[in-house]
Amino acid sequence: MRATAKANSNIALIKYWGKRNEPLILPTNNSLSVTLDGLYTETTVEFKEELTEDVFTLNDRSITGIPYNRVTQFLNLFRDYSGKANLYAQVDSTNHVPTAAGFASSASGFAALAASAAKALNLKLSNEELSKFTRQGSGSACRSVYGGFVEWEMGENDDGSDSFAVQVAPQEHWDLRVAAVVLTAQEKDVSSRDGMKLTVDTSLFYDGWLAGIPHDLGEIKKGIATRDFEKVGAIAEANCLKMHATTLGANPPFTYWQDSTMAVMQTVQQLRADNTLAYFTIDAGPNVKVLYLPEDEEKVLNTIRQVDSVTDIIVSKVGEGITYP
Ligand code: DP6
Repeated sequence: MRATAKANSNIALIKYWGKRNEPLILPTNNSLSVTLDGLYTETTVEFKEELTEDVFTLNDRSITGIPYNRVTQFLNLFRDYSGKANLYAQVDSTNHVPTAAGFASSASGFAALAASAAKALNLKLSNEELSKFTRQGSGSACRSVYGGFVEWEMGENDDGSDSFAVQVAPQEHWDLRVAAVVLTAQEKDVSSRDGMKLTVDTSLFYDGWLAGIPHDLGEIKKGIATRDFEKVGAIAEANCLKMHATTLGANPPFTYWQDSTMAVMQTVQQLRADNTLAYFTIDAGPNVKVLYLPEDEEKVLNTIRQVDSVTDIIVSKVGEGITYP
């Protein structure tokens, strides 16, 4: 009853930003991401008869408190499903992130945990079923089940049975690059979970955010299908700006951006003004991810490195889905 799984992180080009059901993690809109090969988690789960509670280590450190509770609650889904109520697990996770700076990823973490737990219990789940389990650990994680370009279909059912991710295009479809630009090692002030809830509950701009999704999603899928980088980049950047605009309309208003975030955003826009195609996207924190094509790598990275507050850059190609090393 032991298994190891590896899952890559992902970056949303069309953001998931809001829940219609919090316990089940059902979103208010479809989202679409690229799986990244440079940021990943490897997890070994072993269910043992002799354990009286779950044990969780992350990068060789014993974890307690809220992160521990999220892991045990997540494992409860698997215990319920397999009818093994009192079977506890030793969970050992390693986050492979070259620097310890704001990229501790719940997406790769819950995808690797779901896959290793399912395999350890010998559950023969389809990717769709695995994605539904993974979704209940962290929404964005359900997209990391697959490689390439992935859409999370929000679904309509109250029980979440039709809310899971599907692959839009495989990893080999398109050789894009994503640079994760590290600006700060600080813990973020407002988690994505709290930030999206405050926004859904209070932001005057939330309806506007939702109204723009069908257009952005339709266009970006056309752009991916035809490998139209200008189209995909422009839509991703605009979608990110709309998501972040909703936080300014919340009560109380907040933003994830710092001065250094703006400095990188403006550098990316300047690259475009100088005829190098690069686009940014930002999640619920200050760090920026930059999309570009392989032939522009040197120019893009050299330019971004010159921004004062940049401490590191982690380059990813389009990554694969879950594997069992
Ligand atoms: C801004 O997946 O971290 O990165 O479902 O509450 O765990 P929970 O939230 P999470 O939110 C990710 C939000 C985002 C956009 C995205 O990845 O789509």
